[in-house]
Amino acid sequence: MNLRAGRLKTGMSDEAAEYNSSLEFDRVIFEADIKCNFAHTLMLKEEGIIDSQIADNILCALNKLEEEGYDALVFDPSVEDVHMAIENYVTDQIGPEAGFMHTAKSRNDQVATDIRLVLREKINEVQIGILEFIEGLVELAGEHLETVMIGYTHLQHAQPITIAHHLMAHAQALKRDYQRLDDCYKRVNLNPLGSAAMTTTSFPINRELTTKLLGFDAYLENSMDGVSSRDFVSETVFDLSALMSTLAKICEELILWNTYEFGIVEIDDEYSSTSSIMPQKKNPDIAELARAKSTVVTGELMTILSILKAIPYTYNKDLQEITPHLWNAIEVSQATLSIVTKMYLSVKFNKERCLELAGSNFATATDLADIMVREKSIPFRQAHKIVGRIVNEATASGLSEGDITSEYIDNIATKLGFDSLGLNDELVSKALNPLENIKMRTVLGGPSPEMVNIARDNLKLFLNEEFEKKGI
Ligand code: ARG
Repeated sequence: MNLRAGRLKTGMSDEAAEYNSSLEFDRVIFEADIKCNFAHTLMLKEEGIIDSQIADNILCALNKLEEEGYDALVFDPSVEDVHMAIENYVTDQIGPEAGFMHTAKSRNDQVATDIRLVLREKINEVQIGILEFIEGLVELAGEHLETVMIGYTHLQHAQPITIAHHLMAHAQALKRDYQRLDDCYKRVNLNPLGSAAMTTTSFPINRELTTKLLGFDAYLENSMDGVSSRDFVSETVFDLSALMSTLAKICEELILWNTYEFGIVEIDDEYSSTSSIMPQKKNPDIAELARAKSTVVTGELMTILSILKAIPYTYNKDLQEITPHLWNAIEVSQATLSIVTKMYLSVKFNKERCLELAGSNFATATDLADIMVREKSIPFRQAHKIVGRIVNEATASGLSEGDITSEYIDNIATKLGFDSLGLNDELVSKALNPLENIKMRTVLGGPSPEMVNIARDNLKLFLNEEFEKKGI
């Protein structure tokens, strides 16, 4: 069937036809388009809109095509997209009566339906990937509840933490990335089919039936909106950008931690490369690429939003140009999520180096000030001043945490015009010891092993519930 034979005198020039075609990326919606045609034809039959025997012939041909796959389609130059190629296939199988399957249906509502059908599967797959990463992090955290490391603010030593607490921070960010997609799914899983070109049809179609047949939660309630809205696409790609930003941050950190200077982790050889000239090099290429690929997804989001913003209602061909950017965003995100999960969960932490970093540079100074407040009722600001001076002088004279005694503290406090504090030496050394320091942080959400375990338990419950919803 040549769609142009009625209205148009000539075919498109080859160049224009190629420019106009969506076939390059329509492969992604091939199965969905068969499903969509199937549901629509079945509905037409059920409602008595088309002859039952003809409908059965169409359904039969569609089934055959599903079995034979994409390569069974013929793409002659008159074929603009997968929808026409499928209709041509059915026509070749059963003759011109195939044309009845297009009753009360336009490619406009069809493509919107197809994209939604594929996208909901893809969202599901990405979500499962996120759950698996979280699961791995929760497990790994269990091995590092007391493994001390340094936490940073401004990339300066701030306060001691455990590796477990740090891993769980990533897990929480990933949980939000997951939940965002969950929410977006609700707006993806809606049925535009039946909107036809833009105003539905005068045939008595049953949109509730196609909604049910295609497993949508509901039908879209405005036919103009049905064919022209793609905010479900930009929303999904925003969610993917947010996920990619989480992954990029994780990778950025790994790259730093993996340096000679930090020496906190070693990335497995499987995820590293070497230099063609410097034989000693072990480069974190995968983490670097993942960091860069997050920009690709953000770029796709910008492209999609920019195409969308200036399209007058309803369908315009601009919408076709959005779709490949959606598929690319998904492909890049899935590949990145998969490799980053594997790379991260195989990283080796250098525990000695972690402890060394946490125990130097006075990262426990806040707690020294805290015991002055607690034990001696000194206002925190004054304690802050005394401890600041202690750190200043100790650093200048090459002393470290272990050298700070009650006597040393009093010496400085009196120099600053305060009374002697007479702190208990044991308390001082406990406050300055990184692990003891962490163990004192028993506030909900804090890094003490018991609190991290509570957070782990909560996440395990979340994982169980969500895996179950996904049928895993
Ligand atoms: N390939 C088109 C797309 O992706 C299908 C819809 C074509 N509709 C039309 N009126 N030309 O948007």
